[in-house]
Amino acid sequence: MSPLRPAVLAQISGWLIAFALSRIAYPPLAAHPYEFALAQGFCAALISYKLEAPPWWVPIHIASPPLLVAAVGLHWPPGVWLSAFALLMLVFWRTDSSRVPLYLSNRSTALELARLIPPHPCQVIDLGCGNGGLLRMIAKMRPDCRFVGIEHAPLPWLIAWVGSRRQTNLEVRYGDFWREPLGSYGLVYAFLSPAPMLRLWAKARLEMAPDALLISNSFAVPDQIPEQTTDVADRRRTRLLCYRPGRTK
Ligand SMILES: C[S@@+](CC[C@H](N)C(=O)[O-])C[C@H]1O[C@@H](n2cnc3c(N)ncnc32)[C@H](O)[C@@H]1O
Repeated sequence: MSPLRPAVLAQISGWLIAFALSRIAYPPLAAHPYEFALAQGFCAALISYKLEAPPWWVPIHIASPPLLVAAVGLHWPPGVWLSAFALLMLVFWRTDSSRVPLYLSNRSTALELARLIPPHPCQVIDLGCGNGGLLRMIAKMRPDCRFVGIEHAPLPWLIAWVGSRRQTNLEVRYGDFWREPLGSYGLVYAFLSPAPMLRLWAKARLEMAPDALLISNSFAVPDQIPEQTTDVADRRRTRLLCYRPGRTK
């Protein structure tokens, strides 16, 4: 289920409770927008907690209504908010359903990943390639291999696609990586989140060749022991978890 549903339900219920409070129990609340908004936020947070939503929703619920009141008080033209919303939408797209936001692999990770590519020419795919920065770096290091990136968020895809035009061994496509058959790839790279890892494992097991590598940046496949784990010497202590799903058929 999309995490947006309980969030919207909590805020609507929070508003209804705050409204009822201002009508029945404490009428002065209606005249104070910040206090009303805080009451709504706290009620929403409580409902979110009862609905067993992840705990980080609590501060979001408490802070959102007062911030909304403050934003309205700025009297900015509606176009500013609409543009900000459109920009966020173009960058993060359907993060609510994919549960995979945009964050990028760094240069140290790209160098380490390049070392893990098999020595012979092969195809490499980045599932959800973001702005394509990682692929551009490793495609330069391995001109004998072919690199493919698939991205569904419009703005990162556009940046990746424009950036790939001059690299002949790199192809960036717009689309959903769940629809991409993985059988022809010698290395599949994924930097996603914990949410899709079991689904990815099921797909990789079915489709990947026995020798092909699945490398997950940071997120382990539940109940699977990686064949190898590579620690990257960066500040966020990136770990590359290497699996061979095709061997577990
Ligand atoms: C954490 S970012 C990683 C970006 C890039 N691979 C890197 O390592 O720098 C994950 C990306 O996957 C994209 N994504 C998530 N689900 C997707 C899907 N089903 N199809 C295509 N792209 C997807 C997101 O939009 C996001 O840009």
